[in-house]
Amino acid sequence: MVAARILRALAKKPDLVLGLATGSTPIKVYERMVRAHRNGIDFSRVRTFNLDEYLGLPADHPQSYRYFMRKHLFDGVNVPDDNIHFPPTDGSDLTKRCGEFEQKIRDCGGIDIQLLGIGRNGHIGFNEPTSSLASRTRIKTLTERTLEDNARFYGPDETQPEVAVTMGIATILDARSILLQSFGTAKANAVHAAIEGPISSFWPASALQYHANTTFYVDEESAARLTMREYYRRVQRAEADSEARGLM
Ligand code: F6R
Repeated sequence: MVAARILRALAKKPDLVLGLATGSTPIKVYERMVRAHRNGIDFSRVRTFNLDEYLGLPADHPQSYRYFMRKHLFDGVNVPDDNIHFPPTDGSDLTKRCGEFEQKIRDCGGIDIQLLGIGRNGHIGFNEPTSSLASRTRIKTLTERTLEDNARFYGPDETQPEVAVTMGIATILDARSILLQSFGTAKANAVHAAIEGPISSFWPASALQYHANTTFYVDEESAARLTMREYYRRVQRAEADSEARGLM
């Protein structure tokens, strides 16, 4: 569904601006995009901005998000290298260069579609609990919980970075549309807090309630704690019906 939405948007706008996430959640979407390219879909005018990257990992490090994106998407589609952007994580004057990253997004006309996953603690990007809801791209220290969740990717001799650069919550909220996916029981509390909880920096994804065009794509396990599940199902059916009748 998410890949289909991206591909529909691409058909309408060949120079689509995509905000991209890493982690296990979006892998299937990237697989479908790669398959679409093999079947002739052109990505040569697409511009991409990734949400986050670890500080201090070189691009060819298997745990870096640049490596992840090459492996799962960029090696399989024809987005030109010059159109691919990551938050700055090496060299000097990161604060200034984070500002330039934000400016680059604006120069491209803003992000059309932002893909998101969600952390068990409700983080989006690496905006950990208590991140300012007005935050912009910046350096962020990861919480113990996030470090624990990602420790599985590191060998016993590898040092896991504890600091990253991430788009801010306000950066994410600037996107024209946001598609958040969540799978599995471990995310059920975070999904509940994001959708039905009060807006709070303690659950960063709850800031999405401020966004006029966000869709959550969740499986039964991640949806388990939603109190209005039946209503959301009816909304989904009604929207599908309106779409089929050409009303949307
Ligand atoms: C990744 C990112 C994170 C992940 C989140 C969920 O670029 O920004 O917010 O989306 O940690 O990770 P997974 O998908 O591995 O459960």
